[in-house]
Amino acid sequence: MSLESLKSLFRPELEELSAYRVPPRPPEVKLDANESPWPLTPEARARLASVMHATDINRYPDGRATELREALAWALGGSTDEYVLGSGSDELIALLATAMCQPRDGAERPAVVYPDPTFVMYGITSRAHGWKPIGVPLDERWDLDADAMAETIERERPNLVYYATPNNPTGNCFSREKVEALVDAFPDTLHVIDEAYGAYSGQSYATLCEERAQCALLGTLSKVGFAGIRVGWVRLDEALSAELEKVRQPFNLNTASQVVARLALTDLAPLLETQITSIVAERERLAAELDRHGALHCFPSDANFLLVRYTGDVEELCRALLDREIAVRQFKHGNSRLRSCVRITIGTPEENQRLVEALGDILG
Ligand SMILES: Cc1ncc(COP(=O)(O)O)c(C=O)c1O
Repeated sequence: MSLESLKSLFRPELEELSAYRVPPRPPEVKLDANESPWPLTPEARARLASVMHATDINRYPDGRATELREALAWALGGSTDEYVLGSGSDELIALLATAMCQPRDGAERPAVVYPDPTFVMYGITSRAHGWKPIGVPLDERWDLDADAMAETIERERPNLVYYATPNNPTGNCFSREKVEALVDAFPDTLHVIDEAYGAYSGQSYATLCEERAQCALLGTLSKVGFAGIRVGWVRLDEALSAELEKVRQPFNLNTASQVVARLALTDLAPLLETQITSIVAERERLAAELDRHGALHCFPSDANFLLVRYTGDVEELCRALLDREIAVRQFKHGNSRLRSCVRITIGTPEENQRLVEALGDILG
């Protein structure tokens, strides 16, 4: 049958994967996707509207996103040519998998190493591109197991190593000296440091990236109020970014996203800083409230979410919260250490209060 023979043309690795789906109707309090809870202020919206009004959308976008690159270099450092831009940092993860896929001598497939648990797209994207994904368990405090990482990198000779710091879903930053030691010990591997939540930790590896060609920084606007425009970037040595540019679709960032992202990095930066400060304060307040319940334990977080261990039935807890129009993230698959946990994004003070009251109601 022809459908069967067409299906046989798909990559066999896709058998192990399922499509990423989100519920069609979000509940009133959405604390499951690590977005910023804050909508833009009326003034910021008016500013965006006037900039969009002056934009010609009958033309293709600027394929180089010149002004956005300039804003990135101005806000985050480096030269404009060090940045490769994508539709969210997800696209950059895919571009790295497409471009850097040459297996090492004697290996059948390129390999990628990352700590486990971590952001799921490193594993999903590498599988979908025919790479060998290797997760290295984090230690009992969710920090890097530096010896196990080093042994694995030595043995597997990966093309790429990912470190999300702060890490999703554990929320903590990895020990800086461990990351730096691994970057220095393996100069023939590209070490991608994912700073998606860096705004909430106040830490950055920009200096390390400037000093080491084997170090790249991944960034995004998704966690600081602009998930809807899908803008991310990777900053890496110009010789490497030039190669990555060759596999980027010429118009991958649409005009509206470029314009809004540029404003986010420049004129709206002070507003974002205020929102970030309030989310960090709420994170500490919410953690203290949740820790009052004997059944809950919050792990320390440097991000805009909390990983919370629950001693009861996690499925039932999530259902009870959803009945009260509150969504949090549950982990049904993947690392077994997460089965007893939920990940809770920090909301507005009102949303967090609603969560606190709902938990009081459910847990007593
Ligand atoms: C660590 C990490 N990196 C990257 C991303 C993807 O972000 P983007 O929206 O830019 O694709 C996420 C999203 O959850 C994340 O948690």
